[in-house]
Amino acid sequence: MDPNKISADVQAAATVLEGHIEKRLGTDRPLAAITMGSGLGGLARAIRDPLHIPYHVLPGWPRPTVIGHSGEAVVGTLNGVPVLGLSGRVHLYEGGSPDRVAFYVRVLGALGVTSLFLSNAAGAIREGLLPGELMLVRDHLNLTGTSPLFGPVVGTESRFPDLSFAYDPELRAIVRSTAESQGLPLKEGVYAAMHGPAYETPAEIRMLRTLGADAVGMSTVPEVIAARALGIRCVAVSCLTNFAAGVTDEPLDHEEVLEIGKLVEHDFQKLVAASVARFSEA
Ligand code: HPA
Repeated sequence: MDPNKISADVQAAATVLEGHIEKRLGTDRPLAAITMGSGLGGLARAIRDPLHIPYHVLPGWPRPTVIGHSGEAVVGTLNGVPVLGLSGRVHLYEGGSPDRVAFYVRVLGALGVTSLFLSNAAGAIREGLLPGELMLVRDHLNLTGTSPLFGPVVGTESRFPDLSFAYDPELRAIVRSTAESQGLPLKEGVYAAMHGPAYETPAEIRMLRTLGADAVGMSTVPEVIAARALGIRCVAVSCLTNFAAGVTDEPLDHEEVLEIGKLVEHDFQKLVAASVARFSEA
């Protein structure tokens, strides 16, 4: 993909989105953007005095096709802090290039958003991790075989971004201490990103465990890589929605993934809202 075309498309979407943000926030800008994963879109309802911006009004913005994703940006406040919620995202398995997956992150860069809170649904691999629990992502394994940074450098992005601290230690500390103060158990671990869309085989899950993965999913990692190339600080929480394939005798079911997401949604919302309110401490 032509990097100048990507930059032009990103700028066009950013200009329209900025107009909407101004309508709602005036001269304030979102302190953080929040990407809501499968079944976690209800966080959008926790945003105060929301202005809903369907993705289709944003030029060039890729539209998600998965059930459980409504596809809109939501501008408003969480615990008094201006935020930009992103309900619905495009995944690699939906086709197209990784550029489509990272498009919104590049728009955030153009808008000057400095922190990104990502959420996702994930399968639990490590012993002791259970469906219904939340896991703060400490690090990732990019097993998608691709990257949004393949090809010529886009705009001011770093050619070789450092991923030693891809999941910002200070933001993680805030999320950890927020969970503690809420009495909310929060696990921590390594998230392995697969291309999907098929769930993994039991043999693949054994491989991932050997490689050091604690949970597995099909999102987040391309976005974090793009964000780091732009200097955006990231933090991510996985909602463990199921045991990964072969961990138990039960087969996997997308409906179950969405249902468990709904069960933890309330805890998840509280955690995100209270954490983001403290992001300025980082
Ligand atoms: N594997 C991959 N992606 C997922 C899973 C899983 O087990 N659960 C939710 N998203």
